[in-house]
Amino acid sequence: MVKSNNPKVCVFDSGIGGLNLLYECVRRLPCVDFEYFADNFRMPYGNLAKDVLMSYVEEIFGAINERKPYVVAVACNTVTASCIDYLRAKYTFPIVGIQPAVKPAVSAGGKCLVLATQTTTESTAVKNLVKQYGGDNTNVVAVPKLASLIEKNEGKADRAEVISLLPNEKPDTVVLGCTHYIYVKEIIGEYYGCPVFDGTDGTASRLCGFFGKTERSSQRAQSVTFTGGDCAKNRRIFSGIILSKGGFPK
Ligand code: DGL
Repeated sequence: MVKSNNPKVCVFDSGIGGLNLLYECVRRLPCVDFEYFADNFRMPYGNLAKDVLMSYVEEIFGAINERKPYVVAVACNTVTASCIDYLRAKYTFPIVGIQPAVKPAVSAGGKCLVLATQTTTESTAVKNLVKQYGGDNTNVVAVPKLASLIEKNEGKADRAEVISLLPNEKPDTVVLGCTHYIYVKEIIGEYYGCPVFDGTDGTASRLCGFFGKTERSSQRAQSVTFTGGDCAKNRRIFSGIILSKGGFPK
């Protein structure tokens, strides 16, 4: 197998949430190496005090920095919302952050419900995002226990249990403002009976913008590795995502 000098992208989430974004990036950039960083044993990040969250993120970015990444994708809305400005000021590599897909959801019209962690909901970043794109028709609601439920059940949480945690609202669109919620997108869509948006596609597209055509099309061998937290679990769930999508269709 030929293997050499692929650019490296580091992808980071508190746990399994970022694996759907990882899949999408690996699929679109077959000539880029990926390393997935997670912190499964210390998640959820969404209810942590700011200084504790910052200390965990600092620790992980210290390890990411040692890899000399070409670009980093923060696959965690909570970290994007509260730490990305600080991280961008501190490190020289570019950092792409996932954030709630408020803009496309609001463009679809009607009332928009954004579901996110406590920290994301209370952040200035998300308040500004809603001010910019959402106007008065957007409601951001925290679902504090949902990410842990999904993490604990490896993405296969029980329907009734998920529904019991969802706010009683009647939206026309829903935005998943936490990457863990993507695993139960279908349940959420059926429950509210409306389209559900998430930031995977937009974030993967922004990441692709850092690469030329060669990295997207050539045939060099690609490596995907896992660091931090429960690597075996993250690898297993990632393999499950690949299977469920039928491999890496173009
Ligand atoms: N997946 C993360 C997010 O997108 C956070 C989940 C958590 O650790 O609370 O916000």
